[in-house]
Amino acid sequence: MPQSRSAPRALRLGVNIDHVATLRNARGGIHPDPLRAAHLAIEGGADGITAHLREDRRHISDTDITRLKTELTRPLNLEMAATEEMLGIALRHVPNACCLVPERREERTTEGGLDVIGGLKLLKPFVGKLRDAGIRVSLFVEPDLKTIEASAKAGANIVELHTGKYCHLALDNDAAGVAREFERHRKAAVAAHALGLEVHAGHGLTYNTVAPIARLPEVVELNIGHFLIGEAIFGGLSSAVRRMRTLMDDARSEMSTAPAKARA
Ligand code: PXP
Repeated sequence: MPQSRSAPRALRLGVNIDHVATLRNARGGIHPDPLRAAHLAIEGGADGITAHLREDRRHISDTDITRLKTELTRPLNLEMAATEEMLGIALRHVPNACCLVPERREERTTEGGLDVIGGLKLLKPFVGKLRDAGIRVSLFVEPDLKTIEASAKAGANIVELHTGKYCHLALDNDAAGVAREFERHRKAAVAAHALGLEVHAGHGLTYNTVAPIARLPEVVELNIGHFLIGEAIFGGLSSAVRRMRTLMDDARSEMSTAPAKARA
């Protein structure tokens, strides 16, 4: 059932703690602990925790997922590829949400969104199995209207818009590119909301790029990881999350239709 056009105002922050596990795994021990990081992120204002269990287990491990699911007081958003192995893990743990992402072993991070149009036949029953278990399902997609439509056909609850390109263009100080990419996000968010999909966004967001995306009224959740974990080295994780939270809240409170101005 499509949602009303009066868009929701609250904006949640999901903190992705994958790279705490990256650092831990560099030495093969138990420090730093992603669960401790999750608690600190919540202390700083995170509404939920996101973790990506990759096929190659390069950062988050199966044990991390078990601990996060059993010990966290906030919702867990499990990012994963749409494979049978991951389906089994998700159905065993029943996280609050699963975000389906494309995954290639050779990539450094999730490069590009899911091919929902090409994969619709496979995705639809996959999404159905997760939803039947009471898990909210999100598809990580490029801000492309046809892909958004296919996401609704796949039965997803949510689309998470991939902000990677927008952030890269901001880092390159490409103002025209940022404006163009931001407009794609704006249109995608409006279209997704009109189709009854909840709208999230994330990837590559920083203190300097978060505000325009936070101002999109249809967007109700941002998932942010790498930048916050990097900032935590200099000032602590809670304080990095708190600052991001403040920037998001400030942007939200001054919500306007003014064009985006993202700095690198
Ligand atoms: N959303 C999704 C679906 C992702 O795969 C990632 C990266 O793991 C993020 C958000 C967060 O991106 P970043 O770590 O660049 O903030």
